[in-house]
Amino acid sequence: MRNNMTLQLRTASVDDLEPLLQLEQSCFDSDQLGRVNLRYLLQSPTAHVRLIEQLTHDQFSVVGYSIGLTRANSKIWRIYSLAVAAQARGQGIAARLIEDSLIRAKQLGCQTVSLEVMTTNTAALALYRRFGFEVTDLLAQYYENGEDGYRMRLTLREPN
Ligand SMILES: CC(C)(COP(=O)(O)OP(=O)(O)OC[C@H]1O[C@@H](n2cnc3c(N)ncnc32)[C@H](O)[C@@H]1OP(=O)(O)O)[C@@H](O)C(=O)NCCC(=O)NCCS
Repeated sequence: MRNNMTLQLRTASVDDLEPLLQLEQSCFDSDQLGRVNLRYLLQSPTAHVRLIEQLTHDQFSVVGYSIGLTRANSKIWRIYSLAVAAQARGQGIAARLIEDSLIRAKQLGCQTVSLEVMTTNTAALALYRRFGFEVTDLLAQYYENGEDGYRMRLTLREPN
């Protein structure tokens, strides 16, 4: 992560609901997470909400977040949502959030990381491919706006 002096990564809590909602609304035109769902996720033991704050003018503001979902008796970590504020893009924040997800998934014994992404989302596709994710399925009209999605997967390997 570049400029890491001004960025901090931490687990989100219910106190972060409002800035996370604002970020969600500014980053997604379709399939936005609503307040009720986001509040639920922030309190769920199987949802892992992590955020990155950036220090500007002596104040930290939320500029990126990821939500990982796990399930009992499953070795799959699902990246349910990931977004970075438009003004903070291109400085490695999403990459840092993915790295963090992969570390936490391994710590919980997950073997696979799974996600869905719009087929037209070239930035996100490039990001995921950079980490070795591969398309496994085409999800026809998966999104509320009728767009198709890809399911992508990454197999986690223990270091040698
Ligand atoms: C996709 C998104 C999360 C990327 O966030 P970011 O912080 O700008 O990404 P990073 O700076 O960490 O980039 C990491 C890598 O992703 C790829 N990437 C990111 N943005 C890209 C773009 N606009 N075009 C092409 N590749 C891009 C590159 O491989 C980049 O590596 P590089 O800098 O070495 O070239 C951000 O654009 C976003 O929030 N978009 C809206 C919400 C969204 O689409 N979320 C994903 C839903 S599946």
